[in-house]
Amino acid sequence: MAKDSLTIVDNRTGKQYELPISEGCIKSADLRQIKTGDEDFGLMAYDPAFLNTASCRSAVTFIDGDKGILRYRGYPIEQLAEKASFLEVAYLLLEGELPTKVQLEKWEHEIRHHTYVHTNVTKFMEGFRYDAHPMGTLLGAVGALSTFYPDAKDIEDPHTRYLQRVRLISKLPTIAAFAFRHSRGLPYVFPRNDLSYIGNFVNMTFEIGGKHEPNLVLQRALEILLILHADHEQNCSTSAVRSVGSSHVDPFSAVSAGIAALYGPLHGGANEAVLVMLDEIGEQKNIPAFIEEVKAGKGRLMGFGHRVYKSYDPRAKLIKKVAYDVFEQTGLNPKLEIALELERIALEDEYFIKRKLYPNVDFYSGLIYQAMGYPTDYFTVLFALGRLPGWIAQWEEMLRDKETKISRPRQIYIGHDERQFVPMAMRG
Ligand code: CMC
Repeated sequence: MAKDSLTIVDNRTGKQYELPISEGCIKSADLRQIKTGDEDFGLMAYDPAFLNTASCRSAVTFIDGDKGILRYRGYPIEQLAEKASFLEVAYLLLEGELPTKVQLEKWEHEIRHHTYVHTNVTKFMEGFRYDAHPMGTLLGAVGALSTFYPDAKDIEDPHTRYLQRVRLISKLPTIAAFAFRHSRGLPYVFPRNDLSYIGNFVNMTFEIGGKHEPNLVLQRALEILLILHADHEQNCSTSAVRSVGSSHVDPFSAVSAGIAALYGPLHGGANEAVLVMLDEIGEQKNIPAFIEEVKAGKGRLMGFGHRVYKSYDPRAKLIKKVAYDVFEQTGLNPKLEIALELERIALEDEYFIKRKLYPNVDFYSGLIYQAMGYPTDYFTVLFALGRLPGWIAQWEEMLRDKETKISRPRQIYIGHDERQFVPMAMRG
């Protein structure tokens, strides 16, 4: 009997099976041979939220949830957040290696020269209602980009894929900034190619009357936040990008699916939900009552808990430090005290300790974004800007993986058996 194998005895039939174990996994498809008879479809694994099912093999990001480790392509997140630029990290995620000086210059040059969007994109965006949620605007506009670049359908060609990658990374800040200006009724500010990636984005969002005084500390803080969000292996939005992309749709459509997934309050929308929660709590004296409600199952402590991290979220640690750098520039966000007190109480409370619930990346990021001047409903857009390189890297990896097939989960059918159509007069 092979050592790297799993022996299964099917007590329904008494038959024994030996399944190979590779990389700590058995293949679910190997279970299919386990049958009670010829009519039996074969054994399946039931895992509705992918709690214990690997959907792919990936070389992009490593997470050890118990130890609180996050690495992109092997590099610890702490080192990347301290030393790298966002475009450097994007290159690393996409190409697999850190760029040389020449490679980075070329990459930055290409990104810089694709920042403009077709003028019809601006018209299209003007069509959104004045109070449209910027995430809705973003996902609609990115999906619409596929109609501007029909060549993106040629996903087999590496050169075309590279061009769409450049287009996405250079145009998303432009679209995101337009979404910001739109919600405020301000005219769009066009990209300035003499500025850095972050500097240009900040300028497009905040420039008024041709002027914007850049604050380099805040720009670096934003850059660190984007780096911390750049990839997170098979999270909900990345799985959405992979799953939709597995149908061989163009990358703009696949990424807009990722943006839709990120929009939800249990995923990227949590940073917005944290601020709403802090507003609802209002004052420190209301915290104990709020915690009791959470423990009674009436709502969640937003910004706490994670599917993978069960000790701490390393990004939350780094973000807390960035928060203080930002508040030195902007003055303290008055909600910080409520957040700190919430964190203190929750970390001492049996309910949260038992369930291994710790602050996640979103607990402090919203406070920082707010101090920088972004409205609450815009926070998730900033998350999307950060996550974009990860989405594209994972999309490309999925396409190049020979094992990839169109995503198509199985189900356990629990509905009616066959029954006869009932005419209207005989119903009810
Ligand atoms: N507040 C209170 N209780 C919680 C929380 C929370 N934030 N998160 C989980 N629990 C409880 C949950 O009620 C359950 O308790 P019980 O065993 O008594 O039923 C237990 O902890 C396990 O929860 P779960 O829902 O099975 O855990 P999950 O892995 O499916 O959910 C999560 C992970 C992130 C969706 C969840 O922790 C949550 O809803 N957190 C709040 C939203 C949030 O901050 N999301 C951002 C995640 S990080 C950024 C990102 O990935 O986008």
